[in-house]
Amino acid sequence: MDEPTVRTGWREELERARREALAAIARATSTAELEEVRVAALGRKGAITAFLRSLSQYPPEERPQIGRVANAVRDEVEAALDAAAERIGQEEEARRLLEETVDVTLPGTPVATGHAHPLNTVIREIEDIFLSMGFELAEGPEIETDAYNFEALNIPKGHPARDMQDSFYMNEGILLRTHTSPMQVRFMQSRAPDLPVRMITVGRVYRRDDDATHSPMFTQVEGLLVDRGVHLGHLKWTLEEFARRVYGEGARIRLRPSYFPFTEPSMEVDVSCTICGGGGCRTCKGTGWLEILGAGMVHPRVIRNGGYDPDEVSGFAFGMGPERIAMLKYGIDDLRLFFQNDLRFLEQF
Ligand code: PHE
Repeated sequence: MDEPTVRTGWREELERARREALAAIARATSTAELEEVRVAALGRKGAITAFLRSLSQYPPEERPQIGRVANAVRDEVEAALDAAAERIGQEEEARRLLEETVDVTLPGTPVATGHAHPLNTVIREIEDIFLSMGFELAEGPEIETDAYNFEALNIPKGHPARDMQDSFYMNEGILLRTHTSPMQVRFMQSRAPDLPVRMITVGRVYRRDDDATHSPMFTQVEGLLVDRGVHLGHLKWTLEEFARRVYGEGARIRLRPSYFPFTEPSMEVDVSCTICGGGGCRTCKGTGWLEILGAGMVHPRVIRNGGYDPDEVSGFAFGMGPERIAMLKYGIDDLRLFFQNDLRFLEQF
């Protein structure tokens, strides 16, 4: 049997491993580098580990001393690794914080905020006024039948309002509604025989018209109230209150006789000029008054078409163009601006 090879020079061997490890630890600048050093010295195949495993090659009487020195070297390297890990960890943290620094004094990126379209602002305002009076919001179709758009509203065949020049027909008997008044009959039919009937509806309407004060598509707000004993005084108060809420306490209204086939009597309603207050100016063409809506007492035939008995109930209706109300409110002189969606216009509101 061979004698085990007894190695000498173990001190030098250990000292070399120790110096190499400590030098490498001192050089390490990252956690990853430090880990490589740890593996090279103390890992399963590391230099110091290998030395400790080879203790059996030394004579038994020398082993305790060699082992003690080797363990001391291992402890020293371990302590140095721990200290270096602490130092490198702090350095890396400091580097990261430096890289991630945010200069809170730099100007921010402005966020573009939008706002409601001026027409929608006015529509919401009108809706709120009537909702607060107990009217109910309703919605109806923009593609309408001749029957609702005209017939049910007492607009007989041959009436100028049905003329092809005014209406966009899609088919025989089907057209884009020319006003929101068909909702009077649709809403009454949906409520009959309940009372009172209080409706407000807002929607797009279409006519073959196009100039600075007419657009082929525009908006109408329609109101309807049906109950027992409703008379012109109720209509007048409602519109006066509406004018005061939109244009201020000083606003007055004036009813002028007019004609609509679906109301009797019919009237056009003027509000005291919002620009000059009634003295006369360019906006009101010197009259002191601005026309803002059409109205009247619902025609008995229309009441009947809605499913109510005109001998028992009566009602009033009105229709207005919110574009016109907004034009007067903001001093806008071209209706088409509402529909062009030019930001240079919209941003002014
Ligand atoms: N529908 C009418 C128009 O388009 C307005 C109106 C509504 C008139 C209700 C009277 C009653 O001009």
